[in-house]
Amino acid sequence: GLKIAVIGGGSSYTPELVEGFILHYKELPVRELWLVDIDPGLHKLNIVGSLAKRMVEKSGLPIEVHLTTDRRKAIEGADFVSTQIRVGMLDARARDESIPLKYGVIGQETTGPGGMLKALRTIPVILDICRDIEELAPNAWLLNFTNPAGMVTEAVLRYSNVKSVGLCNAPIGLIKQVSAKYNAAPDRIYAEFVGLNHLHWITRIDVEGEDKLDDMLADTAGYSAKNVPAREWNPEFLQSLHALPSYYLKYFYMTDAMLAEQQESFKQGGNRAEVVKHVEEELFAIYANPELSEKPKQLEQRGGAFYSEAAVNLMRSLHNGTNDIQTLNVANRGVLDFLPEDASIEVNCVVTKTGPLPLPLTKIPPMAKGLIHAVKTYEQLAINAAVTGDRSLAIQALAHHPLVPSVEVAIAMLDEMLEANKAYLPNF
Ligand code: NAD
Ligand code: G6P
Ligand code: MN
Ligand code: MN
Repeated sequence: GLKIAVIGGGSSYTPELVEGFILHYKELPVRELWLVDIDPGLHKLNIVGSLAKRMVEKSGLPIEVHLTTDRRKAIEGADFVSTQIRVGMLDARARDESIPLKYGVIGQETTGPGGMLKALRTIPVILDICRDIEELAPNAWLLNFTNPAGMVTEAVLRYSNVKSVGLCNAPIGLIKQVSAKYNAAPDRIYAEFVGLNHLHWITRIDVEGEDKLDDMLADTAGYSAKNVPAREWNPEFLQSLHALPSYYLKYFYMTDAMLAEQQESFKQGGNRAEVVKHVEEELFAIYANPELSEKPKQLEQRGGAFYSEAAVNLMRSLHNGTNDIQTLNVANRGVLDFLPEDASIEVNCVVTKTGPLPLPLTKIPPMAKGLIHAVKTYEQLAINAAVTGDRSLAIQALAHHPLVPSVEVAIAMLDEMLEANKAYLPNF
């Protein structure tokens, strides 16, 4: 049987992961599931962990669920480690989302300055977790969900010896959307993704052997996950782009309207962090009910809904060497020839027993290359800043982010954000 360690086990998403382990027990026989958390009093971990235990008990499967604050004990001898932590919790997220707005800049958890500060807080903690994995479970695969997932995964690939893959729920979300639209099974759909995490373009959508890209592009409704406002794409733009942009690309292609919308909802008293606080309160009240022994429907209010499908799919394929195709965050190694070899990219990969191998791309929208390059340049500068605590790298990162209007704004905003995050930035 397999040993799995989930770092940040008190997350409200955990029941989804447990459901996945139960559903796929045959191909992924989990013997020990270790949920690790640091939350004071272990309030969340105890509630989620008790629900996990009830779910397993109901299934009748021989899975042991362990709740702990002892990360090393959880990691020791693990086959898979998954990280879903939030350094600074939702209060830090609220600051990431609101400080940039004062400077007329998009305030978002993973895109722009907010994402950079989340990276600065998170990367040192994840690299510390990697030191434990190198020592106690050197053969384990690390599945990283922790955002900004592309940057965090790249930091792990460049600054540790841990075998790691970055994951996002957005590619699976797109497949689900296409599956519902055409009433086709997910395994009859092929979509090609090009770009970075939260910065990808879908250049090919085949459904049961038919090219449906144009048909998908004719629908300009602008689907988003729950955390990003839906906004209509310009039909002429979408047609001539000839690719479907990630919902996160609305922040780049419709910056003015997205910013106005954020400023308006901030005035009405809320950013997404505030909304999520309320959703979490509701979810934990539901989880605490001793009668409940399944994942509740209400979890779909979270932007990351169905993320655990991505996790379980990947563990299953790595464990069995099924050589199937999944959209993952991996090292570039020449797939995008205009990016550094060690850059993380989000593309389709064949998942072999020795790890995911990125597939060559069949199409790259030429007009997307500039933005991919610019954002990767910012990401690499920000990763290096996170690792070294070097302020000048942080300034360069922010000043070169396409959503930041000037050097003066970059520096003023950075100073305010570094000050607000002091408690979580020991390197600075
Ligand atoms: P959350 O606020 O519920 O945090 C999860 C848990 O992490 C909390 O219980 C917290 O106590 C714990 N934690 C914080 N620091 C820790 C540490 N050093 N060690 C162990 N535990 C620690 O967050 P969430 O909403 O479940 O999201 C967790 C993370 O996953 C975030 O970074 C979020 O952005 C990311 N996420 C990513 C995707 C994706 O598509 N890649 C999807 C969903 C969530
Ligand atoms: C999804 C992203 C995740 C992100 C989540 C936020 O769109 O792929 O990376 O963590 O949304 O959802 P939340 O409910 O926390 O706002
Ligand atoms: Mn994501
Ligand atoms: Mn409130």
